[in-house]
Amino acid sequence: MRFPADFLWGAATAAYQVEGAVREDGRGESIWDRFAHTPGKVAGGDTGDVACDHYHRWAEDVDLMADLGLQAYRFSIAWPRLFPEGAGRPNSRGFDFYKRLVERLRARSIKPVATLYHWDLPQALQEAGGWVNRDTAYRFQEYAAAALRELGDGVDDWTTINEPWCAAFLGHALGQHAPGLTDWPAAVRASHHLLLAHGLAVQAFRDLMRRDQRVGITLNMTVAEPAGDSEADRAAARRYDGFFNRWFADPLFLGRYPEDMLAWYGAAGALPGTAAGAGAPDWPPPGDMALISAPIDFFGLNYYTRTICQDDPHSPFFGLRTLPPRGPVTDQGWEIVPGCLRDLLVRIQRDWTRGLPVYIHENGAAMRDVLTEDGRVHDTDRIAFLRDHLEAAGQAIADGVNLRGYFVWSLLDNFEWAWGYAKRFGIVYVDYATQRRLPKDSAFWYREVIRQNGW
Ligand code: NOJ
Repeated sequence: MRFPADFLWGAATAAYQVEGAVREDGRGESIWDRFAHTPGKVAGGDTGDVACDHYHRWAEDVDLMADLGLQAYRFSIAWPRLFPEGAGRPNSRGFDFYKRLVERLRARSIKPVATLYHWDLPQALQEAGGWVNRDTAYRFQEYAAAALRELGDGVDDWTTINEPWCAAFLGHALGQHAPGLTDWPAAVRASHHLLLAHGLAVQAFRDLMRRDQRVGITLNMTVAEPAGDSEADRAAARRYDGFFNRWFADPLFLGRYPEDMLAWYGAAGALPGTAAGAGAPDWPPPGDMALISAPIDFFGLNYYTRTICQDDPHSPFFGLRTLPPRGPVTDQGWEIVPGCLRDLLVRIQRDWTRGLPVYIHENGAAMRDVLTEDGRVHDTDRIAFLRDHLEAAGQAIADGVNLRGYFVWSLLDNFEWAWGYAKRFGIVYVDYATQRRLPKDSAFWYREVIRQNGW
């Protein structure tokens, strides 16, 4: 197995999942601080208060990345560190943290890839409605421009929003993520404002960016598979695809929301300005779609699993239900289906990206890791997962997909959102009691893959 000579090998994390130090150096509260501290929201009552203590251990963490031979590191910037109230007064100590991090990455020849929004909205903006309020998109534009101005010297590649589907629907419709709402009209609005925020940030970046800098977005996508070969199941899978994939990718690349989903949300009264049963001819507001679909420089894909969909006319959830996995699963019960990654990459290029550089910005697995007495983790299951998915990625390249790099999720075990610390995604084990980092076998394996550009 050989990858193209300039294939980029990296690992990813996100601010709230690894940094800790939530009250230090002037950081403001985020919606995830509030959510995690609300009893019953996160397994085990876990919070990101300490996490991997990366805010203090960033230097040794960068050294660890260098030891592992990483060529790139995808991290996110905590908006409430830069703007504790979300807007207005900037906090220079917040900028300083990321300046130091970026400087050390570059000194170690690791390419920094910055994500501007990985779900930690300043709580002050939530008080004003959060993503349900259109103003938040404009506040994001200001924050993004400030981040680029202050950190742009060292960061060439920027991702605006990570997984808007999660932020919008897990956060506002399904209640599993901050801010924890179960309000479909709010979720649909939030999804539009997240996309608008992306578009506004791209607009600001085009004015401020150097020619060698790039801006893109990162979406999580799934393969929606019909449970059987009936027409009804195929239609159900198509609806799930609309909900999960097309609702975000179509606006970004085709400049419009999918008609079938507009009709669905319209009939459900979930579109802005509509009562149940009515359509929404005046939505979205003029100009929004042009902003959202403005050209970007790369596309980031996060892939974890597929979804099996069965028609169910009685289900309020798109008239379908999702079925349990049919094959092996990870520690989270997510079915392991590497072949779907190849199919997805081919489809993404055909339907949306049309030759634009694509990166796998996240792929990886929570596994039931066991730390042996000599401080090793023999995670052969994770190695198999990564190898099989990389093989699928390689096949997609052979199919003609312009795939340029791969980032394993995650560098470190970390705060896995509503699942807390119990689910371990790292190629490096974190002993939370001591904060020791112990590279798992998968980390040594990955180092060798990077060295050989394959295996
Ligand atoms: C996607 C998210 O971007 C990341 O934060 C999360 O930990 C992984 N998926 C695993 O669920």
